[in-house]
Amino acid sequence: MQTGAGFFGSSIGKKIVMAVTGIMLVGFVVAHMVGNLQLYLPAHDGEPALDAYGHFLRTFLHGGGIWIARASLLAAVGLHIWAAAGLTRMNLAARPIGYREQQYQASTFGSRFMRWSGGILFIFIIYHLLHLTLGTVHPVFEHGKVFHNVVAGFQVPWVSAFYIIAMLCLASHLHHGIWSMLQTLGLSHPRYNGLRQGLATVVTAVVVLGNVSFPIAVLTGFVR
Ligand code: HEM
Repeated sequence: MQTGAGFFGSSIGKKIVMAVTGIMLVGFVVAHMVGNLQLYLPAHDGEPALDAYGHFLRTFLHGGGIWIARASLLAAVGLHIWAAAGLTRMNLAARPIGYREQQYQASTFGSRFMRWSGGILFIFIIYHLLHLTLGTVHPVFEHGKVFHNVVAGFQVPWVSAFYIIAMLCLASHLHHGIWSMLQTLGLSHPRYNGLRQGLATVVTAVVVLGNVSFPIAVLTGFVR
């Protein structure tokens, strides 16, 4: 008997789940990076722009907005991992013995690194929540003082280094993810390969350069 039959049990069903949840997650990382650019804005009436932004997020829709966003993100991450695990199992089942000697021809480093970069990002997200949302692994966390928490957090060199390494994994994951997502959504004609490549590169560069700039700005004393 076939388990997990039906549309979501099929390889195309799982690829569509990966693509749709991938779009949600790309939308989140773009919006999150743009929101965090407020680290560079001047304070208003003594309140850093980032603190006002954090306050807005926490009180939006009487405090319900952030929980809707959290629930959607959690569902997207859960489904994304579920579909990835299902596709991996299908690939393994299709070739139970494995190759004696792997010779990669058409695949890129980013595509072979997807499971590793995804796993490292998962660990990063857990650490990041404990660091800047809950403050449990932060040396001097103050609830609601987002600017202070980010600056004091990145003043610890190994923490900044970990963020930068995680962002390199994000670069690899995002680039290959956007490329594959556009293929699943139908942009797979050779005529569109340049466009897919360009879109994946621009979105990845904007998100990752923006994110990497934050720890660097703090470590160099540009933001203090
Ligand atoms: C250097 C880059 C980043 C900085 C400076 C940063 C900063 C922050 C800050 C300050 C918060 C807490 C906001 C608050 O309490 O008001 C936060 C929350 C969060 N960040 Fe980041 N972030 C970065 C990268 C990322 C990345 C790459 C991801 C995902 C892959 C991510 C996912 C999240 C999530 C899920 C939350 C929790 C939102 C919530 O439930 O309240 N962040 N981030």
